[in-house]
Amino acid sequence: THSRTVVRGGLVITASDETHADVLVEDGRIVATAATGSSVAEGWNAEHTIDATGKYVIPGGVDPHTHMDMPFGGTFSADDFETGTRAAAWGGTTTIVDFAIQTKGHALREGLDRWHAKADAQCSIDYAFHMILSDVNQGTLKEMDMLVEEGITSFKMFMAYPGVFYSDDGQILRAMQRTASNGGLTMMHAENGIAIDVLVEQALAAGRTDPRHHGEVRKALLEAEATHRAIQLARVAGSPLYVVHVSAEEAVAELAAARDKNLPVFGETCPQYLFLSTDNLAEPDFGGAKYVCSTPLRPREHQAALWRGLRTNDLQVVSTDHCPFCFVGQKELGRGDFSKIPNGMPGVEHRMDLLHQAVLDGHISRRRWIELACATPARMFGLYPKKGTLQPGSDADIVIYDPQAQQTLSVDTHHMNVDYSAYEGKQITGQVETVLSRGETVIDRRTYTGRAGHGQYTPRGLCQLLD
Ligand code: URP
Ligand code: ZN
Ligand code: ZN
Ligand code: ZN
Repeated sequence: THSRTVVRGGLVITASDETHADVLVEDGRIVATAATGSSVAEGWNAEHTIDATGKYVIPGGVDPHTHMDMPFGGTFSADDFETGTRAAAWGGTTTIVDFAIQTKGHALREGLDRWHAKADAQCSIDYAFHMILSDVNQGTLKEMDMLVEEGITSFKMFMAYPGVFYSDDGQILRAMQRTASNGGLTMMHAENGIAIDVLVEQALAAGRTDPRHHGEVRKALLEAEATHRAIQLARVAGSPLYVVHVSAEEAVAELAAARDKNLPVFGETCPQYLFLSTDNLAEPDFGGAKYVCSTPLRPREHQAALWRGLRTNDLQVVSTDHCPFCFVGQKELGRGDFSKIPNGMPGVEHRMDLLHQAVLDGHISRRRWIELACATPARMFGLYPKKGTLQPGSDADIVIYDPQAQQTLSVDTHHMNVDYSAYEGKQITGQVETVLSRGETVIDRRTYTGRAGHGQYTPRGLCQLLD
């Protein structure tokens, strides 16, 4: 049976265009767009009409960095795939790419199967996976080729967390050589974890145990050093590189220098680095623990370099690195020892809104908003133009966005399964009104109408930014 919906009268914004247009959806896909009021658009009839007059019509957000139900230090991130994807939908994100984790001594396949078991039949929106490599060996390298064939086309390694996720330079080089040959994309957590662990030990021994010391030991220079090293290793291997959660001005400079050499090097940052700072890590009564993540929040001065990087395209993507832990019972595990605070912050719900606020604040244009949050994440991870845009043939993942609505971010109103907001009290202009996922309404004028299990697993192609 045919199911047709027309979205009428909105300002359709993609990474490349802004036009007053109507959008025709049939069977979960966009079939046409035409100027509002044109005879073509007037001729469409459909069972459902959504009036988007005065609103923006934008592609659903693509968040390429989430951690649902992720183990860390004996606990698990507080959003599972059901609660996390529902919160994402509330915030106008219609695709997530989560990280399946290889356990040391075990196969990639085992980790991937575990992630499917967590996610399948639970998601409100579509989802895909990257693979975290925790144990690069001959078996791992062979499996990487298989995974690329199956649509897991990106692999994250860690230069941080010795003894847990850490890969040494030799393992990194071998994995990069593999992605150079199989077409995959290497993603890097670029912090010098060996040096950081020395500073952690020294800080704790000196009684510097508060959350703010998490930021002090994870030095910007050690992010920059690791970023530089990752770039050189990728160059030697002939592999493209995507550096995750970039927070330090000095790391942006390394990416910019590499891109000036025309190397296939990319970077993402996250809203927490754009809007928050070490001031938050210093909040009293252990409140700083809410802001412990890695890379850490930086002094406010770093923000200008991140915004500039987003404008100059030295940074191409804004993801959330959504990895929520409740303050009570989870963040509290690190009272008296900041190194035991689970690393990660909630944010999957707020990325589209915070970046819309950045448009109003003059940091980025409206089209750049969509490019950073929708189009480039989709291209980077092989999902375009199915995701990330609104062209005939694209999935009908559509957000009706009210650019004038006023909202205040708060734990009292958010939908993430976590007991605090990192942005408590922040005023935002703009709000998601209605969300379609493959043509189905999952948010209808600020009521959730979706269901767990609507979201489909989405195999990915290769990175589409390499020529
Ligand atoms: O602190 C963070 N970012 N936690 C999530 C894991 C990671 O390194 O991305
Ligand atoms: Zn049909
Ligand atoms: Zn990381
Ligand atoms: Zn992460």
